[in-house]
Amino acid sequence: MELKRIVLGVTGGVAAYKAAELTRLLVKSGIDVQVVCTRAALHFVGAATFQALTGHPVFTDLWDERVDNGMAHIDLSRGADAIVVAPASADFLAKLAQGRADDLLSTLCLARDCPLLVAPAMNRQMWENPATERNLAQLSLDQVNVLGPDSGEQACGETGFGRMLEPETLLEAIVARFQPKRLNGLKVLVTAGPTFEAIDAVRGITNSSSGKMGYAVARAALEAGAEVTLVSGPTCLSPPRAARLISVLSTQQMLAAVEQAADAADIFISVAAVSDYYVLNPSEQKIKKDAHILTLELAPNPDILANISSRQKPPFCVGFAAESENLEEYAELKRRRKHLPLIVANDVKDALGADDAQLILLDEAGRHVLEKADKLTQARRLIAHIAQLYNTHYQ
Ligand code: C5P
Repeated sequence: MELKRIVLGVTGGVAAYKAAELTRLLVKSGIDVQVVCTRAALHFVGAATFQALTGHPVFTDLWDERVDNGMAHIDLSRGADAIVVAPASADFLAKLAQGRADDLLSTLCLARDCPLLVAPAMNRQMWENPATERNLAQLSLDQVNVLGPDSGEQACGETGFGRMLEPETLLEAIVARFQPKRLNGLKVLVTAGPTFEAIDAVRGITNSSSGKMGYAVARAALEAGAEVTLVSGPTCLSPPRAARLISVLSTQQMLAAVEQAADAADIFISVAAVSDYYVLNPSEQKIKKDAHILTLELAPNPDILANISSRQKPPFCVGFAAESENLEEYAELKRRRKHLPLIVANDVKDALGADDAQLILLDEAGRHVLEKADKLTQARRLIAHIAQLYNTHYQ
């Protein structure tokens, strides 16, 4: 189901200021957001902020006269795909667990016919209190999705569980909740980014891969319900929270990590732009400058993907081919040489480091063009294609 419209409930806690950033991110992702604040929330952040960010008036009161028929508690959630309460205070969670309805937001939650997601935010002792534990257990039984909380420093100066998840993480979790679970229960291994082959203590050979495509593929696989291991070369990106991240530098390190993780993987998606060569005898010290010509001796690296796909019982292997000429011909040759059920061809000129890419999927059935789009959209389309092939041929 596509997430088009949500009611964002904001309750009284210091994390309410982060609800403004969450609102901005949701709106930026194309979601229509209707904000409903409790009275306590308005002590922390003003209605005008949310109104400016969403373009809709903010509601607080059950008896608001701006709703013609006096049915704000029904009208505001009509047509909503979800209600998200962020931050959800301990008091509000207790109210939800009891099914009470004594203000607009709690009444909307009780009268809803869509999923309810809550992002708890409170002091660590409130979070650890058996009463809160009881309420959370009840909410889970009632099919309410609980997002977080995180642990860390708290506004009160203490450290522990109870911090609201950061807005970016919440956005990821909210969007993921509504993606089809095409890879439910499967283990997916993804490689991403460039590799780095040391020349000396500070220098190395690498390439312009940003890791964006691989990270997007890992995120799309998580959204589809998979358990994801992400083996990443050096990038500036923050990995999806729910992935198991293994950071590596060189191709040899990537191979070692992949070989181990591949034993349990159902699907291996090899997105990394792996260096074809490594430097023989890298210097442990920084090489000093002098007037002579410096010659680097390079030796070929192992092919990680070919290594895995040639196993006796390989996981479902997907390759990526970035080419600057004869794109489809070279990609198809690679697919056959590496015995892959699927390879993704992309043009280096428009893919490496960019935010958008056009992808061409090559498999036994032929070619499928994924018209240019942002990398997360492409990753979701790719995951849908992989799931379809996997489920028809490999189950
Ligand atoms: O480098 P090449 O064009 O052959 O890359 C095609 C596919 O093989 C990609 O999926 C890439 O991640 C993978 N590869 C690899 N190990 C290498 C080289 C490439 O896994 N040493």
